[in-house]
Amino acid sequence: MLPFRNLSRATRLLSVQRQFTYSACRNGASNPLRRGLATATPKNSKKPYYVTTPIFYVNAAPHVGHLYTMVIADVLKRWQVLLGNTDAQLLTGTDEHGMKIQQAALAAGMDTQAFCDMNCRTFEALAKAANLDHDHFIRTTDPAHRDAVQYFWEMLNHRGYIYTSKHEGWYSVSDETFYPQTQVQNSLDPATGRKRMVSIETGKEVEWSSETNYHFRLSAFQDRLLELYKNSDFITPSKYATAIIQSVSSGLQDLSISRPAERLTWGIPVPGDDTQTIYVWLDALVNYLTRAGYPFTPGQEHKSMWPADVHVVGKDIVRFHCVYWPAFLMALDIPLPKNVLVHGHWTMNREKMSKSSGNGVNPFFAIERFGVDSMRFFLTYQGGLSDDADYDNSFIIRDHKKILQGGIGNLAYRTIGCAKGKLRSYIEDATSDKLPAPSPEDLKHQSMLVQTPPRVSEHMTELNPRAALQEIISIIEQTNKYFHAAEPWKSPNPQRVLFNAAESLRISAILLQPFMPTKSGEILDFLCVNTDPNKRAFSAATYGSDADYGDGIKKAFLFPPLVADE
Ligand code: ME8
Ligand code: MG
Repeated sequence: MLPFRNLSRATRLLSVQRQFTYSACRNGASNPLRRGLATATPKNSKKPYYVTTPIFYVNAAPHVGHLYTMVIADVLKRWQVLLGNTDAQLLTGTDEHGMKIQQAALAAGMDTQAFCDMNCRTFEALAKAANLDHDHFIRTTDPAHRDAVQYFWEMLNHRGYIYTSKHEGWYSVSDETFYPQTQVQNSLDPATGRKRMVSIETGKEVEWSSETNYHFRLSAFQDRLLELYKNSDFITPSKYATAIIQSVSSGLQDLSISRPAERLTWGIPVPGDDTQTIYVWLDALVNYLTRAGYPFTPGQEHKSMWPADVHVVGKDIVRFHCVYWPAFLMALDIPLPKNVLVHGHWTMNREKMSKSSGNGVNPFFAIERFGVDSMRFFLTYQGGLSDDADYDNSFIIRDHKKILQGGIGNLAYRTIGCAKGKLRSYIEDATSDKLPAPSPEDLKHQSMLVQTPPRVSEHMTELNPRAALQEIISIIEQTNKYFHAAEPWKSPNPQRVLFNAAESLRISAILLQPFMPTKSGEILDFLCVNTDPNKRAFSAATYGSDADYGDGIKKAFLFPPLVADE
């Protein structure tokens, strides 16, 4: 067993962790299996909502898949802000250690840190270009993170969860994962015809490795993990939970958590043994804790934003987030994240978009060409959570034209046009109850406007931003139909229809803010909705709740044609 370097720090932390082990969990206070589960949030304190993206490897430039994850996480954060939780936190960043980065830097002929600095800047630039409202950008080469990881390791060791042993298996540098014999197969490299071994799951090349390294007693957590999956909605959508339950039920091997330093130098040394470097995934997962202030100061842990509310991840890294990560946290009695939201992959001709296959679409070009909000819209509207989605520029153009220009833009344009400068007076009439009596169609439309915002909210609570966005767009579609059928341009009394159309626009624009922050702001400005945050919050997305807008409203093209329209 390793020497334990700093027992006083360890003792300090143990006391912290005990405070996180609440006996009054929602389901089964006396069940030891449920210790430290997601329900163990400190009492009487409303911690900030905390959502994360994966931290991305800096071995190559980002593509549209990375942009997608960022956008989904950003929508979740901005939704909380819309609800009034203005202290909500979003974390993104870069994963900079490990064999994959070490080899990429070598291939680029660069100093490894300089290589990381350079590529990290591209991910930061992407967060900016995507209009991400992140509160911090973490790098695993940050000194605070290195300290947190070493501390985490020391705690696992102190609690007896780490041992040394000989490890033999197939390692994939691309996946940064060991695979057992049953999960690899022979294959021919299509480019060179060379015979090689690859992972069955990912198709990535593996190499045989036989070495002594440190192991984590993952097998000890099988029952507690299965309890977690069965008693909570830890993994969303449930499809991924089913797959994980199946895999964990079939058995868990202990996990190799270090590599010999002679092979892997680019990483965090094992505390007390610098002949070994900490496995990049253990290092990387701890980033979520580092940002939350780990190691927690005794007595102050209730001030932390931990546990995370949602980790947003792609389906390629479910095992790391839903098996290894909760097991590490259980080992230390640290509360678990409440949810892992998994999404499917963007594909090109049905093949996963990836840095290593070289089929990644440059997200900067896409944003430049289609506009950031059209991209955010497209990715959220068409991107899959349960399933993959195929990417094609023509789909973005189609949606921009049909839904944004033809749906929202057109509704705004014809509502204002038809009102002939009188919309403000119709809004005043509505608040003093002077609109013409409603027809059955008006009543139907009004009740749709009352019912939709809570439904949108439900989808967001269920972590389904795509369904939420579809619900918002259905307001627009139904309003266009209602408008068309009511023919207010022919009617001597078009007041109610035009007021209802304006309300449809105002309510959808409020709800669209997390998805299209800039465009939705433009729509609200166009409607002359006051910039007071209360007038633009979720609570204002209520039919008839704003008597003050519409003053000075003028026709405008909200969604001009794309510059390079095809
Ligand atoms: O896995 N479609 O980093 P990574 C959708 N460093 N999303 C995609 C995608 C695609 N085709 N390709 C990538 C790592 N992504 C680790 C994570 S976290 C503690 C460490 C997104 O650079 C998706 O979120 O390989 C996926 O999980 C992530 O990028 C992987 O990024
Ligand atoms: Mg990857």
